[in-house]
Amino acid sequence: MSLVDHRVFEYLTDEHHMIRQAAQDFAQKEIAPIAEAFDHSGDFPIETIKKMGAMGFMGIEVPEEYGGAGMDTMAYVLALEEICKADASHGAIMSVNNSLYCYGILKYGTEEQKQEFLVPVASGEKIGAYSLTEPMSGSDAGTMRSRAVRDGDHYVLNGRKSWVTSGPVTDLVVVFMMTQPELGARGVTAFLVDASTPGFVRGKKEPKLGIRASATSELTFEDCRIPASNRLGEEGEGFKIAMAVLDAGRIGIATQALGIAEAAYEASLGYAREREAFGQKIGQFQGISFKLADMKTNIEAARGLIHRAALTKTRAKKTGERYTLEASMAKLFASEMCMAVTHQAVQIHGGMGYSKELPIERYFRDAKITEIYEGTSEIQRLVISRLETGLR
Ligand code: CAA
Repeated sequence: MSLVDHRVFEYLTDEHHMIRQAAQDFAQKEIAPIAEAFDHSGDFPIETIKKMGAMGFMGIEVPEEYGGAGMDTMAYVLALEEICKADASHGAIMSVNNSLYCYGILKYGTEEQKQEFLVPVASGEKIGAYSLTEPMSGSDAGTMRSRAVRDGDHYVLNGRKSWVTSGPVTDLVVVFMMTQPELGARGVTAFLVDASTPGFVRGKKEPKLGIRASATSELTFEDCRIPASNRLGEEGEGFKIAMAVLDAGRIGIATQALGIAEAAYEASLGYAREREAFGQKIGQFQGISFKLADMKTNIEAARGLIHRAALTKTRAKKTGERYTLEASMAKLFASEMCMAVTHQAVQIHGGMGYSKELPIERYFRDAKITEIYEGTSEIQRLVISRLETGLR
């Protein structure tokens, strides 16, 4: 099923090969056959997500003692790529659960918080979400308006959050709110909230262009009273937590883009070998074969950046270094590559690329979000150039 010979990557262990194969088998058997129907209905694929949880895919990097699979970032990207190749919606849910939710609690949570908020999500029993964006603050995340006010042993949360992946179904959420608005980004604090808490209100599900089976919504907090012990990290530390967690998330989105692009490329390759026009296979026309050459080269370049980011993140567990640059470069390149590859895939398929009878148009629609969420391409360029020049 894969056109890539993974044996060439000598840094991959037997365990890596095993999880990639398990994810590929599961994705092709259980997800690929239902992807089109769920894209059409926009329903949340709860049954397959639960099965992914049982297989350990919802908390791959979380140690087994906290309900996860106890593997590394390379294992995560290899498995995620296979899931996204079958369906980017399942991939979005898996990515947010693993990197935007589990990773933050593992890194910044107390032992009690890990037991209460990490174990059920890493084991796939519950679904986690990450809530930073607001209607008036997306890229400029430090200007959020939501407020958390301390009241004895509690915090009272008020505000409106938007574009929350898994918002309509999430059981537990990490949310970022201002505790000291006068300090700007330095006045942001992170909190862990159980969705059953009074004052936690889900908004309507967003109708979206792509990743339609991954439910997205607003979340409103109306005098939502949570124990002070649910604060993740210190007061004022929230913005840095949000950014550090997004570094992990961006490796996931880069991987999602890689998976979508590979699916689009493999379909295009098959079509170019079979479809005839003007008395020959269309793949014999340079106009098509050169497109395929560019698609393949850019896919492999993206894989290189993703593996580099994954290896750096794994090393960071020991060294404490930041992998912001590697994550942003991988996301920037892979998402723009994915948009270009799926665009060419539609073109190669001609009318069939535009038809809902094939998944090509879905790949094209799903690709677009990778250039937008978890930091737009413009934000990635800002992050990379600031780190490289040291200027702002
Ligand atoms: N790791 C750790 N700390 C970090 C960091 C990182 N990656 N990035 C920044 N920081 C720290 C800085 O060192 C700085 O610390 P000091 O106050 O001690 O100096 C502090 O955070 C503030 O940083 P900046 O001054 O760089 O902040 P800024 O206001 O200029 O913003 C930005 C930087 C890059 C524009 C940032 O706001 C950003 O990434 N915006 C995009 C937000 C985003 O990706 N949103 C997507 C939300 S998730 C989603 O899409 C929904 C979903 O469910 C999937």
